Amino acid sequence: MTLQFSLTTAAPETADTACILVGVYEQGVLTSAAARVDGATGGAIKRQVESGDISGKAGSSTLLYAPIGIAAKRVLVVGLGTQKGFDAARYQKVAIEAARALGRLPVNEAVSYLAEADVPDRDAAWRVRTAALSADHAAYRYTATFKPREKSAQPELAALAFAAGADAEAGLTQARGIAEGVRFARELANLPPNICTPAYIAAQAQAFADAHDKVDCRVLDHVEMEKLGFGSLLAVGRGSANKPKLIALQYHGGAEGVAPYAFVGKGITFDTGGISLKPGPGMEEMKFDMGGAAGVLGAFVAAVKMGVGQNLVCVVPSAENMPDGDSYRPGDVLTSLSGLTIEVLNTDAEGRLILCDALTWTARTFQPQAMVDAATLTGACVIALGKHASGLFSKHDDLAAELLAAGEHALDRAWRMPLWDDYQVQLDSGFADVANIGGKSAGAITAACFLSRFAEGQRWAHLDIAGTAWDEGRKGLATGRPVALLAQWLIDRGA
Ligand code: BES
Ligand code: MN
Ligand code: ZN
Repeated sequence: MTLQFSLTTAAPETADTACILVGVYEQGVLTSAAARVDGATGGAIKRQVESGDISGKAGSSTLLYAPIGIAAKRVLVVGLGTQKGFDAARYQKVAIEAARALGRLPVNEAVSYLAEADVPDRDAAWRVRTAALSADHAAYRYTATFKPREKSAQPELAALAFAAGADAEAGLTQARGIAEGVRFARELANLPPNICTPAYIAAQAQAFADAHDKVDCRVLDHVEMEKLGFGSLLAVGRGSANKPKLIALQYHGGAEGVAPYAFVGKGITFDTGGISLKPGPGMEEMKFDMGGAAGVLGAFVAAVKMGVGQNLVCVVPSAENMPDGDSYRPGDVLTSLSGLTIEVLNTDAEGRLILCDALTWTARTFQPQAMVDAATLTGACVIALGKHASGLFSKHDDLAAELLAAGEHALDRAWRMPLWDDYQVQLDSGFADVANIGGKSAGAITAACFLSRFAEGQRWAHLDIAGTAWDEGRKGLATGRPVALLAQWLIDRGA
């Protein structure tokens, strides 16, 4: 369940709710909401600032229970850090920490005054949207594969109101749509690989289409793909009992006949590496190798929920990469849908092999005005950029600039990497048009170079989300990235 969000004009002293959130900067600088609460309660906040109990440190919080003089039952005083240098990133950090603290309280509703804080270059709609998305992110729990537990008696946060004027309403509408998209992506990606198979993803996409006007779904199975010539995609899935699917969602949000925007997402539901088998430790994380698929499907959900006025397609090539007597092998030469032949030098470089056929099919079928793929494509991208930025690759400076700006605005950032032809020779093969790996150096770039061969003539960009799609470690969850970036990019293209 997503949180219910609303706007309110209630004053902090009179808001009749289980909890209000007000901000305090370091050095005892109160926001106007905090100052009003302080005034109405005879100095309940300032006293604690003076005693040092409230530091104002970014992300810290202090609870006041039932202070006399105001209508709310609780006040959560949230630290904003120093007033100087308070920016969008800090605002988001504070919003997430505040939501976590709020989530630990026995309250089912709250009113937040945090969106009143000034953030350079961001308007009220952005502040409300970001606070709402942060709260929804913090409230998400993965429960799908636990034994059903008794519902705890403690009330859970269900409704959150933000103090803001009507000009912030658009931010709330966007937040509701994006939050649903992010949840869709996170839940799908978190599911274990024995449940989240190519057929399962196809069924989820079909169910979404069935439930929404203006959305169609088409699924190609391996028999149809065989007939059409998806030689590269099918090779990757051949070792698995869970047969590959090509899933295509279409949203008719714009005028008929207008070329759509296209998303393509890597949907490897488990990546063992195949015959080029990966080492055992940490292999379970390769259930997240459908993070690109989850991300583009989530962005699609967000676009539909926001009702964007664009035509949009979302294509997911999905397969499981397994070692088997029938697996493809190093040395195999595959004929891709485009006709280009590919020498397989490593079966663990499988993402590009399913994406290349999907890019070809998407371009041919929909003639999109722009095509963006998202993929947990290379460990090399994680080495280059870590977990904070997705790698962005494009030969189209304008498209790259649009995506970078969208990521910056949504705080779901990407960083551009080169896609110069200089790197293409690393993919030379003695036995086919192209090899599927490019050697030791520049692994994220050569992977993108491989894809570029199949996006000739297209306005295309690639996002390598290997570092950003999930939080590493035994309990690491899917992040829902790059749903916000892609949704923002669509918003920026005009309603
Ligand atoms: N899914 C992996 C990439 C990956 C690795 C994502 C670690 C996130 C964390 C991809 O299919 C893969 O195995 N790539 C290889 C490519 C290599 C064989 C050229 C890699 O990165 O090692
Ligand atoms: Mn792999
Ligand atoms: Zn992979």
